[in-house]
Amino acid sequence: MTTMESLIGLVNRIQRACTVLGDYGGGDDTFSSLWEALPSVAVVGGQSSGKSSVLESIVGRDFLPRGSGIVTRRPLVLQLHKTEEGSQEYAEFLHLPSRKFTDFSLVRQEIQDETDRVTGKNKQISPIPIHLSIYSPNVVNLTLIDLPGLTKVAVEGQPESVVQDIEMMVRSYVEKPNCVILAISPANQDIATSDAIKLSRDVDPTGERTFGVLTKLDLMDKGTNALDVLEGRSYRLQHPWVGIVNRSQADINKNLDMIAARRKEREYFATSPDYGHLVSKMGSEYLAKLLSQHLESVIRARIPSITSLINKSIDELESEMDHLGRPIASDAGAQLYTILELCRAFDRIFKEHLDGGRPGGDR
Ligand code: GDP
Ligand code: NA
Ligand code: MG
Repeated sequence: MTTMESLIGLVNRIQRACTVLGDYGGGDDTFSSLWEALPSVAVVGGQSSGKSSVLESIVGRDFLPRGSGIVTRRPLVLQLHKTEEGSQEYAEFLHLPSRKFTDFSLVRQEIQDETDRVTGKNKQISPIPIHLSIYSPNVVNLTLIDLPGLTKVAVEGQPESVVQDIEMMVRSYVEKPNCVILAISPANQDIATSDAIKLSRDVDPTGERTFGVLTKLDLMDKGTNALDVLEGRSYRLQHPWVGIVNRSQADINKNLDMIAARRKEREYFATSPDYGHLVSKMGSEYLAKLLSQHLESVIRARIPSITSLINKSIDELESEMDHLGRPIASDAGAQLYTILELCRAFDRIFKEHLDGGRPGGDR
C-alpha cells in the first residue's frame, strides 16, 4: 500500500471506531470533525433513477437491493477499507459486529431485513442509517452513501409527509461541504425535470463537488440521443457529465453478474452511432476512475488539516484516558484506546513519510 492509502485507511478506521463509540452526529467536536475530515460520496436523484445500481458499479460488487419502486428506504453508509493484496474480501455491519459476511447475496438480504426491522415491511422510510463496511484488496478507501430517492407524491402506505421527509434526509447528507454528490438523472426523462440537478444546484451552486451522471441511455426513445446533456449544452457542470448503462430489471431478474454487465455497457458505447466520439469518457468504470482521481486530490489537500486534527485528538484522548484511569475495563474505554492508537499510527506514518524536509521522507 502507498503512504496515502495507509493514511486514508487509518482515518477510515478512526471514523469507524468513532461510529462504534456512538459519537458520530453527537456533541463531541473532535470526533465529528474527524468524521468530516475525509470526503464521502452520496447519490442524489429521483426514485428508480439508478442510484443504487451506480453505487454497486463503483464498488464492483453486487450487494445492494435494487428495483422499481421505493427499494432504498434507509440511508446506507458504506465504508470501503482497502486491505493487503491476497486477503479475503468480507463485509461487516455495525449492528452485527460479530458476523463476517463473505457471501455478498447475504449482505443484500441483511440490508433488506435490517431496513424492515426499523421501518416495517411497507413503504415507510427511516433516517436511521445502516452502517456497512467492506474489507477488500480491490477497493479504494472511501465512504459511499446510498439514499432513498426523491419523490413527488406519497404512495399507499406512506404518510403525506414522506416527500419532505426524504428531501430533508437527503439534504442532511449532501449539504455537508465534504460530501461529493453524484447527481443521478435518467436519460429517458427531460433533464429540466431532474430532481438530482435541482437539489445539487441548491446545496452546491458552483458545482465543484457535483458529478452529473446520466443513466438509462439504453432506454431513450429511438431517434433521440443525450448529446446535449453529455456535452454540457443543456446544463453545464464543472465536472464532465458521465453517461451510464446499468443493468435493466430484466438483467437483474436473470442475475446478470457485474462482469457481464460491464461488458454489455462497454459494447453499448463501442457500437453506438451517437456516442462513438465519447467512448473513452463514458461508462461505470470511467466514472469510478474520475471519482477516485477527484477524491485523491481532495484528500491530498486535506492531509495537513487532518494531521492537526489528529494531534488535537491525541491530546484530548490522552487526557480523557487519564481521567478514566488505567487499565480501562469498559467498552467505551477500549474504543477510546483504539482511536488513540490509530491516531498515533497516523501521526507516526505521516512524520516518517510525508512530513516535508525530514530525512527519510519520501518527497
Ligand atoms: P434507485 O431507486 O435510484 O436506487 O434505482 P435502482 O438502482 O434500484 O434501479 C431502479 C430500476 O431501474 C431497476 O429496475 C434497474 O434495473 C433499472 N435501471 C437502472 N439503471 C438502468 C439503466 O441504465 N438501464 C436500464 N435499462 N435500466 C436501469
Ligand atoms: Na428504485
Ligand atoms: Mg436505491
